Amino acid sequence: MSDLDGRVIVITGAGGGLGREYALSCAGEGARIVVNDLGGNRDGTGSGSAMADEVVAEIRGRGGDAVANYDDISDVSGARSLIGTALDRFGQVDGVIHNAGILRDSSFAKLTPENWDAVMRVHLYGGFNVTSAAWPHFREQGFGRIVVATSTSGLYGNFGQANYGAAKAGLVGLINTLAIEGAKSGITANAVAPLAATRMTADIAPAEVLEKLPPEFVAPVVTHLVNPVCTETGSVFVVGGGLVQRVALFQNKGVTFAEPPSAGEVADRWPDICDLTETTIGSSPIA
Ligand code: NAI
Repeated sequence: MSDLDGRVIVITGAGGGLGREYALSCAGEGARIVVNDLGGNRDGTGSGSAMADEVVAEIRGRGGDAVANYDDISDVSGARSLIGTALDRFGQVDGVIHNAGILRDSSFAKLTPENWDAVMRVHLYGGFNVTSAAWPHFREQGFGRIVVATSTSGLYGNFGQANYGAAKAGLVGLINTLAIEGAKSGITANAVAPLAATRMTADIAPAEVLEKLPPEFVAPVVTHLVNPVCTETGSVFVVGGGLVQRVALFQNKGVTFAEPPSAGEVADRWPDICDLTETTIGSSPIA
């Protein structure tokens, strides 16, 4: 029996793509799943219950236990209602996988405030909304598992994705602090940047690349991260096509000035300030 058996995992955006795969994988290990999906289009327009319902039916068809939820997690009350579904139906919540996402790509020159806001609301605000709704329950039971979907666009940048990249990098900032604040309560928080063939990537990567990236390669890593046996926290992983890779920020030893330097003195030391030949894993110098 898996240690996930009987655990209750809430998955946002689980009506298709990667989220569906996470739901099937966690359910396959005995977890009870709240399958959340607004059921809209890739750009966040539209809604419907069919997507979440189909995944619930699939899980039940395989002998698992799941309930559908159609709330919009970009909304505070939607996220609270989602966690409420877990509590009403299963009496507990053990993990949250914040996977819901939309795209509104455009070059920065053409990025409108509306398309900035829409993407921020689903990815970043959604991340805050669902984790903060689950947080008191995690603290009370001294256990919780959080996984958020980040992206290589957030970690490294990508043309046409300033809104998406900023939101995805924001989620890494979120889990960095949740990992610190959750440590004393048995709560872990990690981020996964997936690489997978879904409707989101269908016209972004070439077909010969996408065929090597089935979502099945990503789900086992996310499933492991919500398992009680996994105590990893505050980490970021790039996962896809068989690759499972930890990503981290590094720092060099830096340059220390005894007195406030002039801009010219900074310029003189610039090669040393930027030199990355000797690095250690990054940590806050004032924590
Ligand atoms: P997808 O479009 O198949 O899945 C996203 C799901 O989120 C959809 O089912 C959608 O209905 C749902 N959703 C959107 N807004 C919602 C809202 N407000 N409330 C509830 N549900 C909502 O795309 P995919 O590829 O499965 O993406 C899953 C996550 O992984 C996303 O966060 C995405 O940004 C991220 N990601 C995916 C990559 C890939 O290679 N497929 C690469 C990097 C990140």
